[in-house]
Amino acid sequence: MPVFDAGEIASIRSRFPILSRTVHGKPLVYLDNAATSQMPESVIQAVSEFDRTRHANVHRGVHKLSQEATDVHEGSRDRLAKFLNARRREEIVLTKGATESINLVAHAWGRRNLRSGDVVLVSELEHHANIVPWQIVGSENGSIVVPIPALDDGSLDQDAFQKLLDGAKGPVKLLAVQHVSNALGTIHPVKEMVAAARSRGIATLVDGAQSVPHMPVDVQDLDCDFLAFSGHKMHGPTGTGVLYGRYEVLERLPPWMGGGDMIDKVSFSGTTFHEVPWRFEAGTPNFTGAAGFAAALDFLEEIGMDRIHAREAELVAFAHRELSGIPGLRILGTHPDKAGVVSFVMEGIHHYDAGMFLDQMGIAVRTGHHCAQPAMERYGVTGTIRASFAIFTTESEIEALAAGVRRVQKVLGG
Ligand code: ALA
Repeated sequence: MPVFDAGEIASIRSRFPILSRTVHGKPLVYLDNAATSQMPESVIQAVSEFDRTRHANVHRGVHKLSQEATDVHEGSRDRLAKFLNARRREEIVLTKGATESINLVAHAWGRRNLRSGDVVLVSELEHHANIVPWQIVGSENGSIVVPIPALDDGSLDQDAFQKLLDGAKGPVKLLAVQHVSNALGTIHPVKEMVAAARSRGIATLVDGAQSVPHMPVDVQDLDCDFLAFSGHKMHGPTGTGVLYGRYEVLERLPPWMGGGDMIDKVSFSGTTFHEVPWRFEAGTPNFTGAAGFAAALDFLEEIGMDRIHAREAELVAFAHRELSGIPGLRILGTHPDKAGVVSFVMEGIHHYDAGMFLDQMGIAVRTGHHCAQPAMERYGVTGTIRASFAIFTTESEIEALAAGVRRVQKVLGG
């Protein structure tokens, strides 16, 4: 029994204005949702309505517009807290994306808690955003970044993980791990990994950039200290993101950026800081984006995260069937637990050339290393062709991709 019937999918598609455009004279087949998803009309309207009627700075004015803008902005924090099942709204720090969220933890938590020789345990498949901030902090305090090895199927080596957790490469102070690989789509058992870390007193951060948009994520169930994700990957506007932080942990952290709105009192003899989460939100925030982010959550919840997850699993299985029959095509990330991402290489054909050809057919995929160069190195490739799905993706779009790939092979002679 399919998760959605054809009518429901057609109705969902009709809510995304961009899906009716053409590219190079062909209908757009948008398969780059892991980079940026598209916005439904309701999100575009929420942003536009905010800008037309309430565009004013938040937390600062006694005037009506500022108060209304503040209500919308803080209202989106409430929506996010509910969406994640956070214990309290103060656990939601509004950022400009997952990258900023992870950098916040690296600078506010990492500078204070990491010492020379301490290990930040990541995975071999991390996005650069969950490697480089730790290296930057490590270059100051001598802490080191150690990867959990990945297996051939794109899952993580859980035996190696246990040994690393027990100190094989030094005392682990933080487990900072992705929930879903952006490069391969594999879903990692982060709940169990977080529990194993916490039972040893190790702090935990989950990069949820590729999971929160595609499956139910409950922070109380996950029990992590931090969770980072972006709004633009979940049908929201760009420049929006979240750092969820366990209240008791956030409360003890110093600010990482200074500026307006994050202070209590400023004088030349010293400054005191605002409470969490505002302590971490220096400067004018993206209030327009927050209005759209709340509308994106409404859209996702209306459909239901369970159904979105189930539908995307259906699409991935379909894509694997369609693509795995193509000679010379190798899918990376074959573990059965996968989110809506299919990454592949084609014998004798550069991923970049394939991407250019597919674009000529109206098919948008991402090609390259997907900001995960160590993952590419692990699988002996410089890059892949990555198709990533959303709730509006159809089987016929995946068939168009498979037909496009066959055509690329014919023309480029792989
Ligand atoms: N992190 C985004 C991706 O995977 C940009 O494409």
